[in-house]
Amino acid sequence: MFKVHAIPPDRLPELLSVMPKAELHIHIEGSLEPELIFELAQRNGVQLPYADVAALRSAYAFTNLQSFLDLYYAGASVLLREQDFYDMAWAYFEKAAADHVLRAELFFDPQTHTARGVPTAAVIEGLSRACRDAQSQLNISADLILCFLRHLSEEEALATLEEAMPWREHFIGVGLDSSELGHPPEKFTRVFARARELGFHCVAHAGEEGPPAYVWGALDVLQVERIDHGVQAIHDAALMKRLADSRMPLTVCPLSNLKLCVFKNLADHNLGQMLDAGLCITLNSDDPAYFGGYLNDNYLQTFAALDLSAQQAYQLAANSIEASFAPETDKRRWMHELKACFQGFAEQD
Ligand code: HPA
Ligand code: ZN
Repeated sequence: MFKVHAIPPDRLPELLSVMPKAELHIHIEGSLEPELIFELAQRNGVQLPYADVAALRSAYAFTNLQSFLDLYYAGASVLLREQDFYDMAWAYFEKAAADHVLRAELFFDPQTHTARGVPTAAVIEGLSRACRDAQSQLNISADLILCFLRHLSEEEALATLEEAMPWREHFIGVGLDSSELGHPPEKFTRVFARARELGFHCVAHAGEEGPPAYVWGALDVLQVERIDHGVQAIHDAALMKRLADSRMPLTVCPLSNLKLCVFKNLADHNLGQMLDAGLCITLNSDDPAYFGGYLNDNYLQTFAALDLSAQQAYQLAANSIEASFAPETDKRRWMHELKACFQGFAEQD
């Protein structure tokens, strides 16, 4: 086993950048950069209420989740054709490859698009084609997770799942996103039961802005395999114990939490405390085009702000591999690659 203490602290940023890692919480619509929004708007003849890229980017000043979601849905309005969904996902995969991401599980929101008359086929086939090309051209293992918009009804979620069934081989799980407060997990009990019955993995956003009770609901009622965000769990000792004892993964997104004012400063983030409490924490970018950074930016800025160690870097990367829904044989291979990477850094001294 490599000696993690043999890694000099000044080499930590380089190590964070090149270590192999998985990204488990990325909304692909949240990777749409302003430049691509304008390019697609022009391609598709969509009028945007912003004069140019700079004007759009300057609107990215959020006070909470809802203030972000309003812009995020407006940005997604330029996506109309299969090729648009492909181009968006491909742009993300190129960034992910540069960040040494070897596994990506992409959230997508079909309801955001079908409500505008975009066929489910265009959404799923464009994203799925990009996932296949990510594997063959960039050596990134990628899969899709279909998310239900929690501000809409459970009936609409059920209809969305049934509409996606002709493409059931193209996604591996279901998730729950959008406005959290006022939309507890229990609202989606039946659609998650149906998804489990169909053999899909289940995850849900819970405890981003919402209370610990929403995390309990996601665990006990929706029976999820991962909690997305979950940072509010810190306020409930019994919940923290449950998460630690069960090694329930949390997909934490520090730059998102900062930009949506969940924490005032990155130095106030509770990721270090949650790692210390023994939780299976992973680090992710959420909506990188809107929150000022892709996966490595999240690692680099969080490690600097919280003064985290090489041991914690290893733990986070290992957790991301462990918590992924990839086949066990792939996970074992990636763990060897991760160890070899750390070994290389320890040996050079
Ligand atoms: N929370 C909830 N819904 C979302 C998010 C998020 O951080 N990003 C995109 N949809
Ligand atoms: Zn999210």
